[in-house]
Amino acid sequence: MSKITIEGQNLLSGEVKISGAKNSAVALLPAAVLANKKSVIYNVPEIKDIGYLIEIMELLNCKIEQKDDALYIDSSKMKNVPIPEELSVQMRASYYFMGALLAKYGKVEISFPGGCNIGARPIDIHIKGFEELGAKVEIVKNRYTITAEKLVGKTIYFDFPSVGATINIMLAATGAEGTTIIENAAMEPEIVNVASFLINMGIEVRGAGTKRIEIVGTRKTTDAVIEVFPDRIESGTYIIIGALLGDNLKIKGIIKEHIEALLIKLKEIGIDFVIDGDTMTISRCENLRAVKVKTLVFPGFPTDLQQPITTLLTQAKGKSIVEETLYENRFRNTYDLNRMGAITNILTLNKLEIKGPRKLKGTNVIATDLRGGASLLIAGLIAEGTTVIENCDVILRGYSHLTTKLQNIGAKIEITE
Ligand code: UD1
Repeated sequence: MSKITIEGQNLLSGEVKISGAKNSAVALLPAAVLANKKSVIYNVPEIKDIGYLIEIMELLNCKIEQKDDALYIDSSKMKNVPIPEELSVQMRASYYFMGALLAKYGKVEISFPGGCNIGARPIDIHIKGFEELGAKVEIVKNRYTITAEKLVGKTIYFDFPSVGATINIMLAATGAEGTTIIENAAMEPEIVNVASFLINMGIEVRGAGTKRIEIVGTRKTTDAVIEVFPDRIESGTYIIIGALLGDNLKIKGIIKEHIEALLIKLKEIGIDFVIDGDTMTISRCENLRAVKVKTLVFPGFPTDLQQPITTLLTQAKGKSIVEETLYENRFRNTYDLNRMGAITNILTLNKLEIKGPRKLKGTNVIATDLRGGASLLIAGLIAEGTTVIENCDVILRGYSHLTTKLQNIGAKIEITE
């Protein structure tokens, strides 16, 4: 099992470039099977989930070539075969093959997706959506067989604006007769990225990025090209690192509109930064103030930055409150944060209190999930002494070239087996 070792308290300067968004890329790959024959996806991050998705696509007989950060996908000789459990459980995003293969072939067989253990994470909204389009869903021991002789577009209302369900139903709706309307759709930037790819394939999609998305089904698609947006969660993580340790640190690949909720919160905490075009310059800030943070769907404060900002708040003066409204199991990082010297208390299932500022000390910790691991990584960077993070593979699932990027800006960090 690999570990990350960090010698803390080094100031960070120079430039770090944000990679393509994990949550866009993991949807764009399955979406690529809908293109006529060939598609190209640029700016693909180098993370494990992409490797697993490529394995699934090769199993479906897609030909994939990788050049630098671009993937060239040829789906002209595709075959629809069941997706084995050992591949689909490697990541949550394998569920996007449900929508994509249902649209293309009217049948898909796949197991329940995996992903970080941060709560129950059901997929009932996806399933209800497929059924409303006319699909039959059979579930036997975690294995889903979804079939449809014909999918027919209709208006679907989501009880909750789920990111995954919005993308999955968009994909399925491309194979439906007529128009599908998703009401109360999620508005996250990843959805706009996927919709742009579908539009580039010649599919009519309107309203992505708003609460109402319209998709006009068609099987007549063209070849298509798309570039993955910069990762807003990776951006946020490096911005938080910059606020704690930056020395004129430059972060390139910022889309301000994607991280507005974080930027407003940072100002409230007392953090200064300058944004010029797509680059932010940020330096270590003193006298941080305690704040309240409540996670919400986009454009609210992202749940994926909740654990990273918790580490930042251990350095703020006073009592901060973090309220997690999306997942019921997303404070597991606080056990080790406290072992490093933080004072955090879980007040209720979804409310955390953080008392600061506290000096953190390096020790051996365990990453329990991707963003929880990121929270410990930030803690290790600011802590006195050495921090060793075990089970660090979960962190690498979301941060492309993590150690190289941090080493290049002056961090003392390495991965060992
Ligand atoms: C995506 C992201 C994840 C992020 C999350 C919220 C990917 C691969 N992952 O996850 O990093 O934390 O958005 O921004 O893009 N829910 C249901 N039933 C469903 C679907 C969701 O009850 O059918 C619940 C979930 O349990 C959770 C909430 O809705 O409590 C949000 O889920 P959703 O927006 O679907 O997140 P994911 O797509 O799983």
